[in-house]
Amino acid sequence: MKELIKDVIKTFHGYSFDHIEIPTSIPIDDLKTAKLLERKENLILYGPVGTGKTHMATAIGVEACNQGKKVRFNRTSALVNDLNDAKTAGNLGKMLKQLSKLDLLICDEWGYIPLDRQGAQLLFQVVADCYEKRSIIITTNLEFSKWNGIFYDEKLTSAIIDRLIHHSHLLVFGGQSYRLTHSTIRK
Ligand SMILES: Nc1ncnc2c1ncn2[C@@H]1O[C@H](COP(=O)(O)OP(=O)(O)OP(=O)(O)O)[C@@H](O)[C@H]1O
Ligand SMILES: [Mg+2]
Repeated sequence: MKELIKDVIKTFHGYSFDHIEIPTSIPIDDLKTAKLLERKENLILYGPVGTGKTHMATAIGVEACNQGKKVRFNRTSALVNDLNDAKTAGNLGKMLKQLSKLDLLICDEWGYIPLDRQGAQLLFQVVADCYEKRSIIITTNLEFSKWNGIFYDEKLTSAIIDRLIHHSHLLVFGGQSYRLTHSTIRK
């Protein structure tokens, strides 16, 4: 959890599930205990800004780390930059091997920044490598129908969605932005 240590550690302590639509396929306890990792399941945390997606992804990552699992947390754009850099430096194989040792890959802010074509292909490769071997958590505010805008290529987009959603739970976050409702400016 390299980036998390630089950022802010969040846990489920005090976390409210009130405005989240959680499918019956995943009990809240399996989120809190990161149990979905044992089943190599994925999570797609979808909803508008400030509704707690990154917080939940982080909290699951922290719980998994506490259980000794290997977790990598990235902004998706940072992961893609790392992949592009590794390819340029001739180290892509090494980086993919490192990623293959993870139990959980968290891709935060999926689709917030457009990718270049090579980046999109490399991200596909990572998702394909994870398929049925390890869990991925994605946080996004982009509905599936708009993912084509990130990956350009319709076939690539369908292939990514297909792999991600096969063993996956979609959590829909609602309500108002916590940032806005808890803003010090409002106070
Ligand atoms: N359900 C919640 N319970 C407690 N705190 C929350 C909850 N949701 C959000 N917060 C707090 O509100 C702030 C914003 O949450 P977070 O960063 O997770 O939003 P986000 O959905 O990832 O937004 P964005 O799409 O802009 O990245 C954080 O400080 C977070 O700890
Ligand atoms: Mg976020």
